[in-house]
Amino acid sequence: MIRPIIWEEDQLKILDQRNIPLALDYIRCFTCREVAECIANLSVRGAPAIGAAAAFGLVLGARELRELPKEGFKNAFQEKASHMHQARPTAVNLSWAVERMLNKYRGIREKDIKDIIDILEEEALTIYQEDIITNKKIGEFGSPLIPEGAQILTHCNAGALATAGYGTALGVVRRAVEQGKQIHVYVDETRPVLQGARLTAWELEQEKIPYTLITDNMAAMLMQKGKVDVIIVGADRIAENGDTANKIGTYGLAVLAEFHNVPFYVAAPSSTFDLTLKSGEEIPIEERDSREVTHVFTQRIAPEDCPVFNPSFDVTPVELISAIITEKGIIAKPDKEKIIAVLQGTN
Ligand code: MRU
Repeated sequence: MIRPIIWEEDQLKILDQRNIPLALDYIRCFTCREVAECIANLSVRGAPAIGAAAAFGLVLGARELRELPKEGFKNAFQEKASHMHQARPTAVNLSWAVERMLNKYRGIREKDIKDIIDILEEEALTIYQEDIITNKKIGEFGSPLIPEGAQILTHCNAGALATAGYGTALGVVRRAVEQGKQIHVYVDETRPVLQGARLTAWELEQEKIPYTLITDNMAAMLMQKGKVDVIIVGADRIAENGDTANKIGTYGLAVLAEFHNVPFYVAAPSSTFDLTLKSGEEIPIEERDSREVTHVFTQRIAPEDCPVFNPSFDVTPVELISAIITEKGIIAKPDKEKIIAVLQGTN
C-alpha cells in the first residue's frame, strides 16, 4: 500500500512527493515546524494528506512543550496550531484537522501534560485511520458511476498520495477496478507542478491500472473525439452552495465537460466542505512561487524575470458539477439543501 505519511513513536515520516517518481525518500520530521515546512513545500500535498500530517505535526509540537507549565503549554500550543494552519491556505482539511486537535485539547486541558500528549496522539491516529475508511466509502459510493469499459479523465492527484491512503477520485477508480471493471484513465499532466505526470501516473503504474498520460491542453481534443466518458477529480474546499476549489485547470475541464456532455464528478470527504462560506468566491486561492511556472525542475524555460501568474487552484461553479461523491453518499446536481442533507444524514 502507498503510504504518504507514516507515524512512528517520536517522528512523522513524510514521503517526499517532490521527487516521485525519480526517488522514493521519506523525510523524518521530529518537530511541528518541520511538518509545517513539508506541507508548505509540497513534500506532502493533497487536502486530506495535509490534514492528517498537520494533526501528527501538532502531536510533535505538544511534545516539544512538555516541560512547560499548563498555562505556558496552552499559549505555546495555540501558537503552533496557528503556525500550522498558515502552511497552506486553500485546502480546508488543514484547518479542519488543526481545529479538531485544538478542540480535543480544549476538552482535556486540565489533565497532566503527559496525558494530554497521549490523547492528542490518539486523536491524530484517529484522523489518519478515519481518512482511509472514508476514502473506501467514497470508492464504494462512487464506483457505480463508472460504467464498464469507461474512459476516465482525471486531473492532478487525488489518489493514495493525496490522502492517508486509497484516495478520493482515484479511490473511486480503484474500487471500480477491484470490482472487475475494465477501465482506462487519461491522466492530465497538471502543470505547473505535474502532480498528474509524476504522482497519478506513478500510482496507476503501481496498481497496474491502464492509463495514458496527456498534457493538459489535450483534454479538449479527446472529449471532442468522444474519448472521455467520465471526468472525476478531487477537491480542496467546497463551499456551502457546492462551488468547488481544486487544482488549477479543473474549472476548464468542467466547462469542456459541459460542452461535450461528459459527466463531471468531484470526490471528496465531508472534511473538505466549508459550510461557513456561501460560495466559491470566498475561497482563498493560494498563489505560489513563480519558479513553478518559469522552471521545469531546475531548468528555466522562460525569459529571466518574466512576469508570472501562478494560482494553484481554481473554483468550479456548482452548476458544472454532475455530482459530489462523499463518504456519506452521492450529492447529485448539488445545491445547499442537498449538501446539508447528505452531510447531516437527513437525506
Ligand atoms: O497543490 P496540491 O497538490 O496539494 O493540490 C491537490 C489537489 O488539488 C487535489 O486534487 C485535492 O487536494 C484533492 S486530494 C484527495
